[in-house]
Amino acid sequence: MAGVTIERIASPVVAEEELALESTVRPRRLDEFTGQDRIKENLAILIDAARHREEPVDHILLYGPPGLGKTTLANIVAAEMGAQIRTTSGPAIERAGDLAAVLTALNKGDVLFIDEIHRLSHVVEEILYPAMEDFALDVILGKGPGARTVRLQIESITVIGATTRVGSITGPLRDRFGVTYRLDYYTSDDLERILVRSAHILDVALDPAAAAIIAARSRGTPRIANRLLKRARDFAQVRGNGIVTAGLATDALDLLEIDDRGLDALDRQLLRAIAEHHGGGPVGLQTMAATISEPVETLEDVIEPYLMQIGLLARTSRGRQLTPGAWEHLGLTPPARPEMQPGLFD
Ligand SMILES: Nc1ncnc2c1ncn2[C@@H]1O[C@H](COP(=O)(O)OP(=O)(O)OP(=O)(O)O)[C@@H](O)[C@H]1O
Ligand SMILES: [Mg+2]
Repeated sequence: MAGVTIERIASPVVAEEELALESTVRPRRLDEFTGQDRIKENLAILIDAARHREEPVDHILLYGPPGLGKTTLANIVAAEMGAQIRTTSGPAIERAGDLAAVLTALNKGDVLFIDEIHRLSHVVEEILYPAMEDFALDVILGKGPGARTVRLQIESITVIGATTRVGSITGPLRDRFGVTYRLDYYTSDDLERILVRSAHILDVALDPAAAAIIAARSRGTPRIANRLLKRARDFAQVRGNGIVTAGLATDALDLLEIDDRGLDALDRQLLRAIAEHHGGGPVGLQTMAATISEPVETLEDVIEPYLMQIGLLARTSRGRQLTPGAWEHLGLTPPARPEMQPGLFD
């Protein structure tokens, strides 16, 4: 496929024109948020208790693959608390002073949402510790031997951190979150409900059977479900009378090369490369990333978790390996004893 750009439906990158779609269909309140029932239940209690005490909610750490609702939940917590939310991200806070400026500008009860919190620098993180623990800011005055630290009080706030890679967060930072929630991939039923809601908001005529088809191919991810809905609507407008029927939804998804497990062309290219060039694995992450020309991070955060979730890829001590299900999905026959054939680059 050299020279052919494969469109990534499963891409974690949100295109500019997609931001509008995301904010239109984004649930604003907890009861509009579908799925993740355990998290929702916990959050409802947390919020209720904090409201009664007239205190901000505990600091919350949200983690999980892209597009599952971390940003959405952070905004919901603020809305349910009747609080303002200030959004920033790990890489956006370059110096300790930047964070100090943000913290001192917050009002009582406000939510500070730090996206990609694993990318905070160490110096910035040090500022965050006392802010989260004691609502304090330790400012160093002067330089050299005469320098001294002055502690400033800030308002009591809630810090909500989000990350796709919880393993990259330092222990001390993790410890300062009162609660940590891991978002899981959504069931098809939940995604169907999300699609019906989005279709209603976007004024798309969506047949229930079509919703089920799109849901099943959305990689357990609301962002992808909404993206596919939009593509199916466009398709139905051009090829049909605007109503997204099961047939039109299937044709639209086939055209996008999204198969019945939700894999796109790039996923299949990856699996096929492991099968054909590495005897099914085990194969190292670097090698896998090279076969699809994607950064290792994308592979680890986006592509691999889903392939593991649906049981096509397994993690072994020597690398990643295709499962029998993957061979079957590719329509290929596994070598007699795949586990005895080490990958080329191990
Ligand atoms: N539970 C849900 N119910 C309905 N829609 C949802 C739900 N979760 C997410 N969405 C939709 O999916 C989109 C992506 O969600 P969100 O931006 O919160 O994901 P994220 O986890 O923050 O992703 P990233 O890691 O890329 O920042 C949102 O625009 C929202 O419309
Ligand atoms: Mg987000």
